Amino acid sequence: MTDIVVLGSTNMDLVAYVEKAPQRGETVTGREFRTIPGGKGANQAVAAARAGGTVSVIGAVGNDSFGTRLRSTLEHSGVNTDHLRTVESPSGTAHIVVDDEGGNAIVVVPGANGTVDHLVPGDEVLIASGDALLLQLEIPLAAVVAGARAARAHGVRTILTPAPAQPLPPELLAATDLLVPNEHEAAALTGRTDPREAALALLDTVPAVVVTLGAAGSLYAAHGTEPVTVPAPRVTAVDSTGAGDTFVGALAVALGEDRPVREALAWAAAAAALSVQRPGASASMPYRSEIEKRYTS
Ligand code: RIB
Ligand code: NA
Repeated sequence: MTDIVVLGSTNMDLVAYVEKAPQRGETVTGREFRTIPGGKGANQAVAAARAGGTVSVIGAVGNDSFGTRLRSTLEHSGVNTDHLRTVESPSGTAHIVVDDEGGNAIVVVPGANGTVDHLVPGDEVLIASGDALLLQLEIPLAAVVAGARAARAHGVRTILTPAPAQPLPPELLAATDLLVPNEHEAAALTGRTDPREAALALLDTVPAVVVTLGAAGSLYAAHGTEPVTVPAPRVTAVDSTGAGDTFVGALAVALGEDRPVREALAWAAAAAALSVQRPGASASMPYRSEIEKRYTS
């Protein structure tokens, strides 16, 4: 089994399902409202655990009812929460509008996630025990850098999702083994809108890149190989929230099992395709048996 540590955010997703998202100044009537556990860190943890990894999460929830539910959801998916702190703060929330095409717009209010600005004693020991450390950018950058450095110091593979998009400090890139932006993040980081060009540009700073392309699959580029594009299964999306996180969680498990990259990418694409067909982020993530059934090499 792959041992995965996730350092990142937990949010309660407050999701309104509407036909079409409102413009500025406009009010629209929604069809349905749901509260669904999310946050990029927690999502990646749930995805990896359901895909068959042994997963621990480092982060923080608030001392409110959302925090209680966020912790128990992680535990129900088999994620170890010993390093998930409860702090005096509201839990992180994400205010999400999902439209009839399954697309979304999101406002994230960090809350408790904002307190995760350093590693505490014990975190580094946990990181060192893993096969991979998964990182995203919904906690303060200082902690992301500290985590990446700790992983690097112990020879643990670091997989960074550079989302939400923001400039990345050189010391973070220097400690990143695999960068997994979507096309928008890849463009924001490089100024190149063509995913292949963006991926090649990113290879100046990290050894390997996977650009996720939504329904079009993903593009992998690494030093010394030709970039490859791996397609995704064709499905009808109802809610793509957390699809990228599902992809990364499943990918980390597959890579930890030493599957060839192409196969790992196809497997991760199958997991993401399953997740977009169901509402919500963590709630929609598939279990290993479902991924195996959907996966075609
Ligand atoms: O990546 C999806 C996640 O982003 C959502 O679950 C939401 O919490 C936001 O953080
Ligand atoms: Na979904």
